[in-house]
Amino acid sequence: MINSDHKKQAVARAAIEYVEYDDIVGVGTGSTVDYFIEYLKPLKNKISGTVASSISTKEKLEANGIKVFDLNEVSEIPIYIDGADEVNGNFQLIKGGGGALTREKIIAAASKKFLCIVDESKLVDVLGRFPLPIEVLPMARSYVAREIIKKEAMPSWREGFVTDNGNIILDINHMDIIEPIKIENDLNQIPGIVTVGLFAKRGADQVLVSNEKEVINLEKK
Ligand code: 5RP
Repeated sequence: MINSDHKKQAVARAAIEYVEYDDIVGVGTGSTVDYFIEYLKPLKNKISGTVASSISTKEKLEANGIKVFDLNEVSEIPIYIDGADEVNGNFQLIKGGGGALTREKIIAAASKKFLCIVDESKLVDVLGRFPLPIEVLPMARSYVAREIIKKEAMPSWREGFVTDNGNIILDINHMDIIEPIKIENDLNQIPGIVTVGLFAKRGADQVLVSNEKEVINLEKK
C-alpha cells in the first residue's frame, strides 16, 4: 500500500466514530470515501441507510449490502462524509477531482453536518493550486471557457469525461482563490455553469486530517 493510501484509510476509519445508530449517512465520492464504505459495511444494519453522491458510490454501497435512498425519499441527512481536493483554514474546499461535484454539493447543502476527511496533502493556505472543476452543460462549453479566459484564468476541457448528469467538466487553472465566496458567487452567474467545485459558502463543518502518525481534528483558523 502506498503512503497516501495508508493515510486515506486511517482518516476513513476515524470518520466511522461520527456515524450514529439510525443515521442516514450522506456518502461522498473518491478513493478516501471508498475506504469509508468498507468501514461502514459492518454498521449496515445499525444505520437507517445512506444517500450517495454519485452512481459509482451508489454501486459500491449496494455491492456492500448497504441501503441507498434517493435524496427525494429522505427529509434530513444528519451527516455527510466526503473527501476533498483542497481544504483551507476556513474549511472551504475545492472538490470535483472525481467529477461528482454537483451531487456532492447538493448533498452537502441538504446535510446538517459535513464531515470532510482528507490526508495532509490536501491542506492549503490559499485554494487554487488544484485546478478548480466546474460542471458545464455541453452546449455552453466554448462560451463558458471564453468567459473564464476573460477572468484571466485558464480553462481546460476534461475530454472524454461525462458527469453522472450528462454534462462536461472544465478544470480552471491558475486561479489564486483569495476570496472564495466571491469567486463562487461570480462563477455561479455565468449561464451554462451547472456547479462550481468551490465549496466556500457551504464548506465543511469539521475536518479530519491524517498524517504519517495520527488523525487530527483540525481547528478552524
Ligand atoms: C470527487 C471529489 C473527491 O472528494 C475528491 O476528488 C478527493 O478524492 P480522493 O479521496 O480520491 O483524493 O470531490 O468529486
